[in-house]
This record gives sequence, C-alpha cells and structure tokens, in this order.
Amino acid sequence: MENDPAPGNAAKAAPKARVAVLISGTGSNMAALLYASRRADCPYEIVLVGSNDPQARGLALAAAEGVATFALPHKGMKRAEHDAAMEQAVLDAGAQYIALAGYMRILSPEFVSRWEGRMLNIHPSLLPKYKGLDTHARAIEAGDSHAGCSVHLVTAELDDGPVLGQTPVAILPGDTPETLAARVLYAEHQLYSRMLEELVTRPYRADWLLAKVGELALSLPEAEARESHGAPGWRTGGKSGKYFAYFNDRHHGEPHVALLVKTDGPDELAALVERDPDIWFRPAYYGASGWAGLILDRPGVDWDHVRGWLERSWRTVAPRRLTALMDAADEF
Ligand code: GRF
Repeated sequence: MENDPAPGNAAKAAPKARVAVLISGTGSNMAALLYASRRADCPYEIVLVGSNDPQARGLALAAAEGVATFALPHKGMKRAEHDAAMEQAVLDAGAQYIALAGYMRILSPEFVSRWEGRMLNIHPSLLPKYKGLDTHARAIEAGDSHAGCSVHLVTAELDDGPVLGQTPVAILPGDTPETLAARVLYAEHQLYSRMLEELVTRPYRADWLLAKVGELALSLPEAEARESHGAPGWRTGGKSGKYFAYFNDRHHGEPHVALLVKTDGPDELAALVERDPDIWFRPAYYGASGWAGLILDRPGVDWDHVRGWLERSWRTVAPRRLTALMDAADEF
C-alpha cells in the first residue's frame, strides 16, 4: 500500500523505562508497581528497590521476585552523603526514573533537581491538602467527605510538585485513621502504576511532544502557531510570516512523530540523515526543499538540541530586525 512505511523503517517499540523504587517500610506500593510491571506490555520495569532501612519488609519481597535491592541505613550519615550513596546505587542500576514509595527521607535539593521530571512520589491525601504526616487523621478531624491519594512529581518543596493524578476515597462514619488508611491503600495501588506508565510513555506521545515543541517554538520572537495542510506549524509573525517549523505525527506514512526544520539545503539534509539515521530522516515532499525531519518519539531526546534547531530554522526566515535583536541578546 502506498502509505505503508518502507519495510525495516517501521517505528521501533519504545524500550521499557528503567525505574528504581525507594522505600522505607512495608513496600505495598512498590509491590503494586512491581506486579503491574509484569504485564508483558507494561512500559516500565523495576530495576532496583532501595531503602534506608535494611529491615524494610519490601526489600525481602523484591529480592524474592528477582529484583536487585540496595539498603543503606542513614544513621550517622550526613543527608547529602546518604543521598549520594542512594543515587549512586540508582545510577549503577541504570535507572532513568525514581519512584518514591513510602520513602521516609527528605531529599536534598541537589538530588531532587538532578531528577526533575523523572522522580515521582505517592502521598496519602488529596494534595494540596494535608502535606506531611498524619494525613488521614487530619482529614477525619476536618470533617472532610473524602480522603484520597495523589501521585506527584517531586520538587524541592515537600509534597508540592505537579500532581499527575489523584483518587478520592470516601470517609465512612466511624472511620479511624487506620481503617481509612487501609482503604486509601487500595486506591494508591491502582493509581501509582497508572501514573508511572503515563509519565514514562509521555516522551513517545504525540500530544505531549506537540505541547513541548510548541512551547519552545512560541518562545522565539514574534512566533505564532498556524496549521498548514492539517499539520501544526509555527511561523514568524505578521502578514508575510514564513513557516520555520512543522509538527508531523506520522505524516504521509512516516513512522515517526517529528519536527520539520529547515536545513541549508538537500546536501546538509542528506549528511544529517547519513550521520544520524536514528535522529534525522528525509520527510516526504518537504525533503525536496531541504526540510529535515527531527525524530521526537525516541529515547533520550536532547531538548537543547531541538531548541537549537528551532532557533536556527527560525533565523532562516525571520526578518532582519528580529534576528539582529537576537544576535545582540546572544552577545550578553
Ligand atoms: C503510603 O501510604 C504512601 O502513600 C506513603 O507511605 C505509605 C507507604 O506504604 N507515602 P507502603 O510502604 O507502600 O505500604
């Protein structure tokens, strides 16, 4: 069929994301993440379970399930030192994400910032309500109709990062913090693996990639978003605005989600594709006039590289008065 991608050119299945889970206790959320990962098409795998408590029950379970474990008591260690050792174990395991699951340690801001967007936590309340401890007692005390749980990205502020998802859990008459906690755990176990799957598959999803690229494109001077032949595109402002980038979601039978940017011409395009065929391709129709396809749905996209190409492409069509401003800004 005309629209079928060429054989051998089909989109490769994304590799499973490698996740380390840090726990301090029972590890029931860790277990939920682990058993969810046993589904053949689960997009992540657990490569390490780490703990600050060698007696944490979850460690024995992980080991019995064949998952590597690491334990280092924090007693007598400085926070930064302990964090560094935990992080080293995570890196040695080749983890790309960290899921905190009842890890009762406040992490140093440096550790957190190195994992920005790739470290998540589960908290037993409907954030922003009840950060910190004793969440269920506080919800009952306040007369709330619902308690619940939240999965959020970890930032330097305790229990404060962007919420990825929440599940409310009704508070029953006569609930104690313990009875409520036990019910909220059911919800936690469902929510956490779903949110982790959502997070690790984002970099391959067209809607997420489009939002990310759009933000970068629109940060360029006087850039505006405008559809072109049914595909999102960005052009320089004004009546005579010219396109400097297009977003292609498997357009014309291509297997990729990609950003089209302008090169110097067909020679440069051919050189890029020859050098890095996992990153660049020659798009149908557009390739003839030197537009290159920068593949976005692949592991390890360097967003500074994408930003650099967007800016370069923008420069080729932006009016002189704007590029001159940009040059002046670059000098500082
Ligand atoms: C959970 O309630 C979680 O929300 C909180 O700590 C508890 C950990 O429980 N962060 P478990 O060790 O996963 O059973």
